[in-house]
Amino acid sequence: MTQPSLSPNSVPTHVAVIMDGNGRWARSRGLERIEGHWQGYRTLKRIVYAADDLGVRYLTVYGFSSENWRRPEGEVSGLMSLMAAAMRAEIEELVQNGIRVRVIGRIPDLPPDLQREFEIAMERTRHYTGMTFSLAINYGGRAEITDAVRRIAEAVRDGQIDVGDINEAEIARRLYAPDIPDPDLLIRTAGELRLSNFLLWQSAYAEMWVTPVFWPDFTPELLMEALEAFGKRTRRFGAVVE
Ligand code: IPE
Ligand code: IPE
Ligand code: MG
Repeated sequence: MTQPSLSPNSVPTHVAVIMDGNGRWARSRGLERIEGHWQGYRTLKRIVYAADDLGVRYLTVYGFSSENWRRPEGEVSGLMSLMAAAMRAEIEELVQNGIRVRVIGRIPDLPPDLQREFEIAMERTRHYTGMTFSLAINYGGRAEITDAVRRIAEAVRDGQIDVGDINEAEIARRLYAPDIPDPDLLIRTAGELRLSNFLLWQSAYAEMWVTPVFWPDFTPELLMEALEAFGKRTRRFGAVVE
């Protein structure tokens, strides 16, 4: 597959990806948007194993946002079926590669058959120590923070914590995947320069890398290009680095 020729500090611990441009990829070929999503799935498969080969420890991808329900009914139901079919088709290979699968988002609002596929995948891989592959599905950064705030309010009400003890760590440990470190590198395909409600809290100091290439055309070589660019960045986290 890819030739890992990167220096060690070019490999971020956690790479997050906004996989955008499936619809435009399809329309530019005179295809239905859903065809772009199927092609995007094929790309995702290649990128999961390429990231694993390169030594990435955590890969988180944005698959369906909390705002994507606004799309035409047919596209939404097509995406739900695609995700269930893809999870069913891929689980054995993920298991063979020791990849741990996680799903973040408001999962109870998804169709029951999709929830079941996700639960099976998470359960079967929960003790794996290879790369953690997280799918953000029915995910919104604001919804995630809102859910955390609600849980903190409950903890205060139940006398478990005092208002004065609410701090960043108390919020962070109530997010959907509190054990996963913040993303180091955030990749967005298809050129838009926005977060679209992805990992708002966690991306505070993520390095961003945007390519005009539509997600179905994304390649392991472009992933390496992003990693190389990341390796040349100076991360300051608000401090002075001389
Ligand atoms: C990203 O591709 C996949 C999802 C949001 C599910 P889009 O479907 O947003 O593609 P464009 O942005 O319309 O081209
Ligand atoms: C973000 O892409 C969501 C996913 C990639 C799943 P969108 O296509 O929904 O973002 P906007 O609408 O262009 O901001
Ligand atoms: Mg889009």
